[in-house]
Amino acid sequence: MVEPEHVEDEELLLSGEEAGEEVTDGTRQFFVSKKAAAVLKHEILQRYVKPFAAKVGKWAPGGRVVYLDGYAGPGRYEDGTPGSPALILDSAADVASIRQLDCFFIERRPADFRRLDQLVTEARERGLTAEALKGKVEKHLGYVLEQAKGSPLLAFIDPFGLGLSFEALTTQLFGSREPAGATGRDATEVLLNFNANAVRRIGGLLVSSKEPKGKQATLKAMDAACGGDWWRDEYLDSADNREAVERIANGFAERVGAAVKSHSWTIPVRNREHHQPAYHLVLFSRHTAGLWLFGEAISHAQAQWRREILPPPTDGMLFDDEAMFEQEEKQRERGWVDEIKKNILGLLQEHAAVGVDRYHAEIMGSALGEARQMHIRAAIKELHRESKTSCTGKGDIPSMQITRP
Ligand SMILES: C[S@@+](CC[C@H](N)C(=O)[O-])C[C@H]1O[C@@H](n2cnc3c(N)ncnc32)[C@H](O)[C@@H]1O
Repeated sequence: MVEPEHVEDEELLLSGEEAGEEVTDGTRQFFVSKKAAAVLKHEILQRYVKPFAAKVGKWAPGGRVVYLDGYAGPGRYEDGTPGSPALILDSAADVASIRQLDCFFIERRPADFRRLDQLVTEARERGLTAEALKGKVEKHLGYVLEQAKGSPLLAFIDPFGLGLSFEALTTQLFGSREPAGATGRDATEVLLNFNANAVRRIGGLLVSSKEPKGKQATLKAMDAACGGDWWRDEYLDSADNREAVERIANGFAERVGAAVKSHSWTIPVRNREHHQPAYHLVLFSRHTAGLWLFGEAISHAQAQWRREILPPPTDGMLFDDEAMFEQEEKQRERGWVDEIKKNILGLLQEHAAVGVDRYHAEIMGSALGEARQMHIRAAIKELHRESKTSCTGKGDIPSMQITRP
């Protein structure tokens, strides 16, 4: 059973109103400058939005794709670094010649909203279609879904603590949308921040003998976010917080996926390699094509994150540090290609032909979420040169069949 964390009662409790979105010094500090976890989050978001818009917008009327940032924040950090709204408005400008990315941003904190509104006004002056909505996401969701009718939708749900309820996510958001169909023109995708700190703090209440005010309301808010109280047993049955967070994040993704008939992909997001995750990012997509695009985005984003967490260069060592990083990256990639080759050879012992899309997870093995299509291609090409497959590795990777020689 998980031991309670050594935290003060005030920290165990989430705010009375919504359990999870209190404004503390910590959360205000959030927008001063960007932490490494946010680097990964933003890299993933930014690297995913453009290919998503390009792909699903191809079949959408007028090439229009809708993006919703439900917990938008002020748009930029105080030091000027772009937050998710500034990043996505730039992405909308980048794809404007081929797609119309209509952006909706919701922020409930007045001071943050004012800055967000200013950013959005400037974007409109640049010719982009964007709207900033003041208040809670729960209040504006229906309006945005109405606006998104007939167009593909990507929603980014990025609260500090607990976000949309399971019910709002599955019934209102996904439930109001047409099934995606073969072209993806009605695609509905959600990239969601599932907060590990909230799991640790709220889970801690289950094993704390104290009964501070608001404890039951906080536990109920977690039930509402998770779609039931199943998470309580997961927490209590876990050996430690690390296991509890993993089990509850995965359990949540599975339950949402089952409720809305969607695939999901869960990525832990940390501030340092040895840290516990600050949160998990979960992509819900009803199309395997979406997952392939996401796989590319997360692989590139993780490389950027590894670069970000490098210790600051020591004087005069800049070149060496950079060279060492590149060397380590090459070794890492070599390891992924070896892992993929080993997995393909194992699969070829059981099957005469291995479809890459169908056996994606098995092919990637421990490189899943790290490596990308170019590493699968490199592995197949090497196996071909070694006469271990008749597949040359040329062409589209997801639809490739790897066959015995
Ligand atoms: C983690 S921050 C968002 C960061 C932003 N997505 C980014 O990446 O730059 C969460 C934001 O959601 C806002 N917020 C909290 N509860 C909300 C709600 N119910 N509806 C809309 N916004 C909310 C908070 O004020 C805060 O600015």
